[in-house]
Amino acid sequence: MSLLVLGANSLIAQAAASHFAAEGEEIIFCGRKQDEPEKYANDFAIRYKCKTSAEYIDALDYLSHKKFIEEVFTKTPQIDYVLIVFGYLGTQETAQNNFNEAHRIIDTNYTGVVSVCELLAAEFESVKKGNITVISSVAGDRGRQSNYMYGSAKGGLSVYLSGLRNRLYKSGVNVLTIKPGFVNTPMTYGMPLPKLLVSSPETIGKIIYRAMKKRKSIVYAPFFWWWIMKIITSIPEFIFKKLKL
Ligand SMILES: NC(=O)c1ccc[n+]([C@@H]2O[C@H](COP(=O)([O-])OP(=O)(O)OC[C@H]3O[C@@H](n4cnc5c(N)ncnc54)[C@H](OP(=O)(O)O)[C@@H]3O)[C@@H](O)[C@H]2O)c1
Repeated sequence: MSLLVLGANSLIAQAAASHFAAEGEEIIFCGRKQDEPEKYANDFAIRYKCKTSAEYIDALDYLSHKKFIEEVFTKTPQIDYVLIVFGYLGTQETAQNNFNEAHRIIDTNYTGVVSVCELLAAEFESVKKGNITVISSVAGDRGRQSNYMYGSAKGGLSVYLSGLRNRLYKSGVNVLTIKPGFVNTPMTYGMPLPKLLVSSPETIGKIIYRAMKKRKSIVYAPFFWWWIMKIITSIPEFIFKKLKL
C-alpha cells in the first residue's frame, strides 16, 4: 500500500504521513517548491526505512494535473491513500481590495483541490477502491468577517467533498473531510489565538491517520470543534451579523 501526499511541506501532512511510514508503507511526497519533496522523501526513508519518492505539483497549474496523476499512478499503481493538504489562508483585508488575492485563496483552497480530486475519483472509481482525504476547515462552517474569503473556499470544498463521497460510495472509494480548528503551523504563526484551542500538528496528524484507517467521512480535529461549531452555527443570523468575529 502507498500514500500520496499532496502538500508535502505542511507539518500536518508530515505528521499524518509519519504514522503510515512507521507501518512501512510507501510515501510519495508532492509539493510545488524545488527540492522540498525530495527533502522529506530522503528524511522519511532514513528515519522510517520505508520506500519514498518525490514529485512536483502546483495546485494552481490545472492543466498539468491530468499528466501528473497519470504519471504518479503509472509509477505507483498500488496507491491506496491520498492526502490533499493544499491550503492558503491569505489576508482577508487584501482580498477585499485586490481580487488577485481573493482569486488565489479561492483557487488554492477550492479549484485546485477539485481539479485533482476529479482525476483521483476517476482513477479510483475504475479499480473500485481507494481513499481520498482532504483537509478543509471549521472556517468553512460559517462565514465570518475576519476570514470569509478563505472560509467560503473551505465551505465550498466541504460541500464538494460531500457530493464526491456520495458519488464514490457505491464504488467502494472513501472520501474523508478533515475539519481542523486552530493548529500551530506556519499558517497561523503570530496570530493571537486562544492557547487552549490550539493543537499541535502531531495531534492533528494522528487524528487524520486514525480517521483514514477507519474510513471515516467527516472528522472535526480535535473532536471538541464539533461542539464549538454546533454552537457557532446555531446562533441566529440576526445576532451573528452584529458580532465582531
Ligand atoms: N493551521 C491551521 O490552523 C489550519 C486550520 C484549519 C485548516 N487548515 C488547513 O490545513 C492544511 C495544511 O495547512 P498548514 O496549517 O499545515 O499550513 P501550511 O504550512 O501553510 O500548509 C499549506 C500547504 O499547502 C501548500 N500549497 C499552498 N499553495 C500551493 C500551491 N499552489 N500548490 C501546491 N501546494 C500549495 C503549501 O506548500 P508551500 O509550503 O510550498 O507553499 C503547504 O504544503 C491547509 O489546507 C489549511 O487550510 C489549517
